[in-house]
Amino acid sequence: MNEIETQIKALRKELEQHNYNYYVLSMPTISDREFDERLKELQSLEEANPEYADPHSPTQRVGSDLSKEFEQVLHKYPMLSLANTYSDGEVRDWYERTMRLLNEPFEIVAELKYDGTSISLIYEEGRLVRAITRGDGTRGDDVTANVKTIRSVPLKLMGNDYPAEFEIRGEVLLPWAEFDRLNKEREEQEEPLFANPRNAASGTLKQQNPAVVASRKLDAYFYYLLGEDLPAETHYTNLQKARSWGFKIPDVIRVCQTMEEVFDYLKYWDMERKSLPVATDGVVLKVNSQRQQKNLGFTAKSPRWSIAYKFQAERVLTRLNSVSFQVGRTGAITPVANLEPVLLSGTTVKRASLHNADIIAGLDLHIGDNVYVEKGGEIIPKIVGVDVDSRSMLLGDKVEFIKNCPECGTLLVRPEGEAAYYCPNESGCPPQIKGRIEHFVTRRALDINIGPETVEDLYNAGYIKDVTDLYTLQLCDLLSLERWAEKSAQNLLQSLEESKQVPFERVLYGLGIRYVGETVAKRLAHSFLNMENLKQASLVSLTAVDEIGERIAHSVVAYFADEKNRSIVERLSSYGLQMAIDKSILADRSDKLKDLSIVISGTFTQHSRDEYKAMIEKHGGKNSGSVSGKTDYILAGDNMGPAKLEKAAKLGVKIINEDEFLKMLNE
Ligand code: IVH
Repeated sequence: MNEIETQIKALRKELEQHNYNYYVLSMPTISDREFDERLKELQSLEEANPEYADPHSPTQRVGSDLSKEFEQVLHKYPMLSLANTYSDGEVRDWYERTMRLLNEPFEIVAELKYDGTSISLIYEEGRLVRAITRGDGTRGDDVTANVKTIRSVPLKLMGNDYPAEFEIRGEVLLPWAEFDRLNKEREEQEEPLFANPRNAASGTLKQQNPAVVASRKLDAYFYYLLGEDLPAETHYTNLQKARSWGFKIPDVIRVCQTMEEVFDYLKYWDMERKSLPVATDGVVLKVNSQRQQKNLGFTAKSPRWSIAYKFQAERVLTRLNSVSFQVGRTGAITPVANLEPVLLSGTTVKRASLHNADIIAGLDLHIGDNVYVEKGGEIIPKIVGVDVDSRSMLLGDKVEFIKNCPECGTLLVRPEGEAAYYCPNESGCPPQIKGRIEHFVTRRALDINIGPETVEDLYNAGYIKDVTDLYTLQLCDLLSLERWAEKSAQNLLQSLEESKQVPFERVLYGLGIRYVGETVAKRLAHSFLNMENLKQASLVSLTAVDEIGERIAHSVVAYFADEKNRSIVERLSSYGLQMAIDKSILADRSDKLKDLSIVISGTFTQHSRDEYKAMIEKHGGKNSGSVSGKTDYILAGDNMGPAKLEKAAKLGVKIINEDEFLKMLNE
């Protein structure tokens, strides 16, 4: 392999990893701008060396957000992305190129670039018939049921001058206020926080349960109309029309006649956008006339008649004073940079996340360095670079990731394939022990009436070393602590007593087995029915459960393989905690669908999709997301996706409707 080929392959690999981090993990490790720069670099290398072309190169696709749970639908008009620019110079280049290509006067429409997740809505005879995500640009997920929960999306249009059939595209957004509320709630429940409103919006839109979606108060702004007979020749007028039909069309759109007007708009909104209720990350410029748009046409990935100008994320320079390492409940070590306090986007920043050892090494940080701190859409600011020029001769100590746990001194380990280091001393490392107890008592788990401070006091006084010790606490123990009065001590004992009635699935969640969150705990509880069965479960039987993958299965097996954990579970059981699923739930169960694999498709009238899913599982069947040779039935509602229909016909899978399904259960 020669040098160029090696370089191209390395870039592809790197970009693929970033795509994965972004789309699958929702945890990007570089900025969009850096990503775009690398992609451009790869593009030009590929163009200059066509002999190394590859149809699977990251340059050949637009990122995919497809998930297997939704019906996939072909876009009538592909959903392309826009070319990104980052400087006035690039905007000028585009403007001048457009001028040369058109060779006649033209208008530019300037709009804000909303930072959410894109959606395409199809209307027929004034009614919303379908909502599709971007997916891979060619086909997307049918998320109609979820989009219908967004109050600002019109289900029926106003007026009567809309085309019989058209598509409208826009952005689904989670407003800042709602984002903050949601994250606060998640923090209380010890669920991972959303990094930014964009991830929160796309995560929400992909929820399988429309009720959850509805509770999150999404919003949608629209910016592009498509169809065979649109009302007007210009983009701008079409949008104004769409507003009259009931769509939320931002009113900060401006028609510009000159380059200067465009720059005024960019400058104005770079500042003003901070007072908007939703996140924006740039400006989109579009040629107004549709005839001119057609003349300009498209490249493989984006229209020539439009570009995106991305705002520079706010960044400041400040001094790195020190780096501390925190130990979480699971033993994961989080490096945190302590900074000289500095004002950034209206708040004082004192700390920044350093993510993991690789990021630290990549930045080549030294204590005392002047570092660039950025606060994009992220809640926690991050260090994006070092001002190497301002380094003095007296270079501070190089920041190295620690080798031993800062709390208990144990040698840290880094599991293969993971970015994080862990302290393996689960049973002897104080923050892990306290963290597990804090998790156990949270509202969503055992709901025991104590906060982190009390846990700390009880732990320091030597009364609790693990969760089981909570149940041997005596009134006199509590009263011996500072600040404790009889009343609050009684309350705690009472709440411990009540926790013995908390359902099995929440007890299981409370154990804090790695990767076993609330939903997984519920799944496991319903599949294995009691702790004893779960303790005996093999990797094979665990992964046979819907939505339980290898990672979770390994974690569960490892948990019960540890004698210390088995003894904790036994003690909890001896104190009377619920170790099996409630009898009334068991009573409804049957084997009527035993070993049958059933795919649910379309929309239903008598029960929700989730209810049907639950019924299938309760009666011993398996609900699967996609049709295959192993599928026994398709439970079909209205609007079943054409792809599934075709596949079912080809494989000869039996299709049943709601009534037939319910009859199967009643017999
Ligand atoms: S127009 C063919 N207008 O940015 C042009 N897009 O990279 C269609 N976006 O996928 C897009 N605000 O999700 C357009 N005012 C706006 C936008 C906008 C945000 C998003 C959209 C699109 C991406 C393009």
